[in-house]
Amino acid sequence: MLKTRMTEMFGIQHPIMLAGMNWVSDPELVAAVCNAGGLGTLALAQYSPEDARKSIRQVRELTDKPFMINQYLLGGWARDNIQVSIEEKVPFINYSLGRPWFVDQVHAYGGKVVGTVAIARHAARAVELGCDAVLVTGHEAAAHGAEATSLVLVPIVASLVNVPIIAAGGFGDGRGLAAALALGADGISMGTRFILTKDSGVHERFKQLCLQATEQDTLYSNAFDGMPGRALKTKKAEQLMKGESFGPLRAVPNALKVKRVLKQSWGQFVVSAFTMMRGEGRRNLLQLATMASGAVRQEKAIYEGNEEEGVMFAGQVIGAIDDLPTVKELVERITAEAEEVLAGIASKVVA
Ligand SMILES: Cc1cc2nc3c(=O)[nH]c(=O)nc-3n(C[C@H](O)[C@H](O)[C@H](O)COP(=O)(O)O)c2cc1C
Repeated sequence: MLKTRMTEMFGIQHPIMLAGMNWVSDPELVAAVCNAGGLGTLALAQYSPEDARKSIRQVRELTDKPFMINQYLLGGWARDNIQVSIEEKVPFINYSLGRPWFVDQVHAYGGKVVGTVAIARHAARAVELGCDAVLVTGHEAAAHGAEATSLVLVPIVASLVNVPIIAAGGFGDGRGLAAALALGADGISMGTRFILTKDSGVHERFKQLCLQATEQDTLYSNAFDGMPGRALKTKKAEQLMKGESFGPLRAVPNALKVKRVLKQSWGQFVVSAFTMMRGEGRRNLLQLATMASGAVRQEKAIYEGNEEEGVMFAGQVIGAIDDLPTVKELVERITAEAEEVLAGIASKVVA
């Protein structure tokens, strides 16, 4: 049994978290991880506030264990979805890509806030802003890591902050969990590894592509959705990196599709675009169009298994994954392996 500051703070059995993944971390997958003794994180970025509320309630129907929500703080319905989560008193709120304005409101009902960072000094800032824990994303990660790898970033953050640290990016087995603990983290968050389970709803075709891939088969670029991020190396991803297939004309229908998925009125759509242009990230129209196209391409990969038009975020750890266990089997396997590795190392050390 691995007892860490993470298991204590979140009231969970194992120091393993399901990463919040837009389109992927849905109520079923979240509940599967919670019921296996880990921390499930429900991604809200693709939901309207009404759907966010429904999904939060659905998680509660599927599990009585604590869970977390994740929300990008970039336009869309970010403010409203955070408000819904507060009204629903979700025990843990995880944000990324922005500055949290809601820490006091969450603390008021006894909830905790977890800030996602990919740069060490941002971890110190998140703690200054009142975050109770930090999620530290290394360069190996699927989607939006920065330049430093987990091996370098986690110990730097561990020497900077005093709150629990969850390491993300490149973790998929017990050796990784043991290593994260050695680096100063209190547990791990996994995205790619949980995608590759029987319980995840990702299209079978993309699961198979990931299983066949090696650790060299991801690409890191801002061509996928306008922000530096890592995706599975497919023909489409390579074309985007070469700037061959951005297709400005498709940006308009793609933006309209995002509006439809998010169930926004025209007024809300315009306000949301305006907020993103004026807000912290100060995105221009081209970046907004790239984000919209990125979201649509992700949906095509994840739900439709469309290799021609879809792009799926995936981490370097795909190279180490060659099976599709259930979430329960995976969590049990990782914790047992981590315990074995830690005991093995202890027995090798001569004081
Ligand atoms: C398909 C997909 C969607 C993601 N969406 C989000 C998101 O909505 N919010 C977020 O903070 N991170 C998102 N991420 C990043 C993950 O939360 C996590 O940081 C990453 O998967 C960890 O790296 P790993 O894949 O090596 O485990 C996404 C990752 C993937 C693969």
